[in-house]
Amino acid sequence: MSNEVILQAEGLVKHYPIRAGVLRRTVGHVKAVDGVSFELRRGETLGVVGESGCGKSTLGRMLMRLEEPTAGKLTFDGVDMYAQRGSAMRRLRRDIQIVFQDPYTSLNPRKTVGDIIGEPFEIHPDVVPKGGRRRRVQDLLDLVGLNPEHINRYPHQFSGGQRQRIGIARGVALNPKVLICDEPVSALDVSVQAQVVNLLERLQDELGLAYVFIAHDLSVVRHISDRVAVMYLGSMVEIGDEDQIYNRPTHPYTQALLSAVPVPDPTLRGLRKQIKLVGDVPSPANPPSGCRFHTRCFKAQERCTTDVPLLEARPDGVSAHDSACHYAAPLALVGTESRPV
Ligand SMILES: Nc1ncnc2c1ncn2[C@@H]1O[C@H](COP(=O)(O)OP(=O)(O)OP(=O)(O)O)[C@@H](O)[C@H]1O
Ligand code: SF4
Ligand SMILES: [Mg+2]
Repeated sequence: MSNEVILQAEGLVKHYPIRAGVLRRTVGHVKAVDGVSFELRRGETLGVVGESGCGKSTLGRMLMRLEEPTAGKLTFDGVDMYAQRGSAMRRLRRDIQIVFQDPYTSLNPRKTVGDIIGEPFEIHPDVVPKGGRRRRVQDLLDLVGLNPEHINRYPHQFSGGQRQRIGIARGVALNPKVLICDEPVSALDVSVQAQVVNLLERLQDELGLAYVFIAHDLSVVRHISDRVAVMYLGSMVEIGDEDQIYNRPTHPYTQALLSAVPVPDPTLRGLRKQIKLVGDVPSPANPPSGCRFHTRCFKAQERCTTDVPLLEARPDGVSAHDSACHYAAPLALVGTESRPV
C-alpha cells in the first residue's frame, strides 16, 4: 500500500426520484447516498460496512459510474471521472471493476466460463488480441485457483465458492487498479468465505489492486481492511484504520454494530457490553433532522435533533480519527477480535 490517492470521492450524492399517480409525478426522493467523501489509496483495502439499505451498493456503483451522480465529484488517478465522455470514459472503465455479491445470479448460465471471463475483452478488444484470449482466460482461471481445462464448462457445474472465483477472474481480467467488491462473500458458507477472502488478499499482493470491500458485518471486513468506513442512511459516520475502528470506535452507531459482532472467545462472552439499537432504520426518503442516527442513538441529546454533526477528526483516546458525532468518545468493547480467516 502507498500513500498515493487513487480514488477520491467528494460529496457524492445519489437521489432516486419516487414517482406516483398516473402522471408519474415525482413526489419525493430516496436519498440513497447523501454526501459521501473519502479517499482510497493505491493498493489499499477500504472496508465499507452498514445495515441493509444504507447505500453501500449505490456508492459502489457510483464509484465506477454505473450510476450517474446527483451531485459530487469523483477523481480517479487525477482525472475527473464524471466529466469524461465516450472513449475516455471507456478507457477509465478498465481500471475500475466490480465483483458482485451473488455468484449464482451474476454469471450468465448460458455462457461458458471462458466466455464469461473473456467478456471484458470483447468490450475492450485492444487489451488482448483475439488470438491470445483463450490463453489469457486460462491464465486467469489458474490465477484464481481454478482448473484451466474447465474453460468450456458452464456456471452450474461449479460450486458457489468456485463461481465467485469466476466472478473475480472476470473482475481482474483487464488488470484494473481498483476492484469494488460488493459483498463478495455474503452468499457463501463461512468455510468458503475465508478461502475467497484469502484469494482476494493474494491477488492484491500480486496485482497491486486497491479494494473497496462492502459488507454488512464488521467482523467480515476486519481481516482484509486497512481502513474501515461505517455508513448509516446514506452517509459515512466514522472512518479510521483497523485499530481505531475496532479498538477505539467513537461513534455510537459503530459501537452498537461492534457490540453485535459474535465474541469468538467463550471466556469473554458474558463480559461484552451490549448496545441495543432501538427501532428500525428510518426511511432514506425522509431521513431524521440533525444527526440522522438520533432516533436510535443511546447518547442522543437535544442538540442532535437539529445540528448535523460533521465527519471530522475527533479524539479517540490515543490519536484522532474521523467521526460524525457531537459527543464522540472512545469505547472499547470486549472480544471484538476478527473471525480467524
Ligand atoms: N435504482 C433504484 N431506484 C430507487 N431506489 C433505489 C435504487 N437502488 C437503490 N435504491 C434505494 O436506495 C437505498 C440504498 O440502497 P443500496 O442497495 O445502495 O443499499 P445497500 O446498503 O447496498 O443495501 P444491502 O445491504 O441490502 O445490499 C435503498 O433504500 C434502496 O431501496
Ligand atoms: S450526534 Fe448525537 S445522535 Fe448523533 S451519534 Fe452523536 S450522540 Fe448520537
Ligand atoms: Mg447492497
